[in-house]
Amino acid sequence: MDKLVIGNWKMNGRRSANGALLAALLGETACNRRGVSVAVPAVYLADVAAQLAGQSLTLSAQDVSQFADDGAYTGEVSAAMLAEFGIEYVLLGHSERRQYFGEDNRLLGAKFDAASNAGLVPVLCVGETLAEREAGQAESVIATQLEVLLGRASGHLVIAYEPVWAIGTGKVATIEQIAAMHAHIKQWVLQNAKGADSIRVLYGGSVKAENADAVLSTPNVDGALVGGASLNASAFRKICEAA
Ligand code: G3P
Repeated sequence: MDKLVIGNWKMNGRRSANGALLAALLGETACNRRGVSVAVPAVYLADVAAQLAGQSLTLSAQDVSQFADDGAYTGEVSAAMLAEFGIEYVLLGHSERRQYFGEDNRLLGAKFDAASNAGLVPVLCVGETLAEREAGQAESVIATQLEVLLGRASGHLVIAYEPVWAIGTGKVATIEQIAAMHAHIKQWVLQNAKGADSIRVLYGGSVKAENADAVLSTPNVDGALVGGASLNASAFRKICEAA
């Protein structure tokens, strides 16, 4: 079964370059298919939604407001607004948002509810720092981050395991580390979030064309959340081919 690949453009892009990248991806059957999505900066949603109209490659978002109803929330983008652009997945709790914007479980719970209630599929991002891993705390840190799901798990859950120390560093986690943590995450969900119909766990953190086969064939890896390599059509195509 094809695995899920989400390209996280992060805060990158310009309208012209976005159009060229998407045109290249749409010409590739490996990328222009169900199960491949691109999470773009909110300012480009209308452009990208228009270019993806009628295509199989889908559009996703990198964040969503905790506030479900319209109102005095300057700068926020609601889940209902995202839904108007056909958004499929919305990333929640990416380590960069936890680091720079202080996102915690309370906030992420509200975002999770807002996204789910608007028909978007939340992708809960979890991951430990190098210091936490070296202190033997990786699994307990992830378990704490997964507590956002308590009382919320229903339908098809998507979680992205992104060890912070592997993001943007070129230092991809070992197959053993990935397999162990993905198994831990699925075990946690089975024991604590029984309402889920299914769970997919994506790996993110220096996924590249060169390591995609090994990462995506690792047990309990159901797909990839790709940063830097998603901005290069050739690299992203190779990762999609591996999925
Ligand atoms: O969300 C995916 C991202 O955090 C991974 O980034 O550049 O290491 O693939 P990168």
